[in-house]
Amino acid sequence: MALARERHVGLVVTHRPMLESDLGAVAAIETSAYLFPWSIGIFGDCLRVGYVCRMVECGGELAGYGIMSMGAGEAHILNVCVRADFRGMGIARRLMLWLLGHARSAGQSWLFLEVRPTNLPAILLYESLGFVRVGLRHAYYQAVGGREDAAVYRLDLIGWEDRQQALIDGRAEL
Ligand SMILES: CC(C)(COP(=O)(O)OP(=O)(O)OC[C@H]1O[C@@H](n2cnc3c(N)ncnc32)[C@H](O)[C@@H]1OP(=O)(O)O)[C@@H](O)C(=O)NCCC(=O)NCCS
Repeated sequence: MALARERHVGLVVTHRPMLESDLGAVAAIETSAYLFPWSIGIFGDCLRVGYVCRMVECGGELAGYGIMSMGAGEAHILNVCVRADFRGMGIARRLMLWLLGHARSAGQSWLFLEVRPTNLPAILLYESLGFVRVGLRHAYYQAVGGREDAAVYRLDLIGWEDRQQALIDGRAEL
């Protein structure tokens, strides 16, 4: 992680909406990150149906993306991915905070997501933001030699800031 931070030190990290013209680059990052990646068509559908599709750039290069759907009272994070050479420098955390803030501003009360129980980096990220595991979807994901369950995580967006502050204060007292 320290190496990644040093390599990209001083580069400006920015966010912007995903465009149709990003789809090729997004699909390339997706394919390099997952064993069972989304197709370019799925990303195109996400744009067309109006999901929140957010790009992160670092030093002018595409470094990652996040996709979130909005419902009545709850939002759902469908994909968060950071290019391998930009990992470990806080990009996913900042992207998650942006998505979380966007869902809150839109009046959502809950934020849901699914994650493979074996994806420790992602789970540690979500739990550090206050997500709690609320269920399991059996055989949800494609996996080598069969299917893998999904852990379902939920974040209560109401009072989120107070709970985060309490966590920070608690740590400071240790
Ligand atoms: C999971 C992923 C999005 C994290 O992106 P990232 O930009 O490297 O994450 P950050 O640098 O913002 O790290 C935030 C937190 O995530 C956790 N984390 C990230 N990478 C980790 C690793 N390799 N090992 C352990 N924890 C890790 C830590 O809690 C970290 O906080 P810390 O730096 O204070 O310890 C990235 O690894 C990725 O794109 N993976 C492939 C796609 C994927 O699995 N997406 C999630 C699908 S549910």
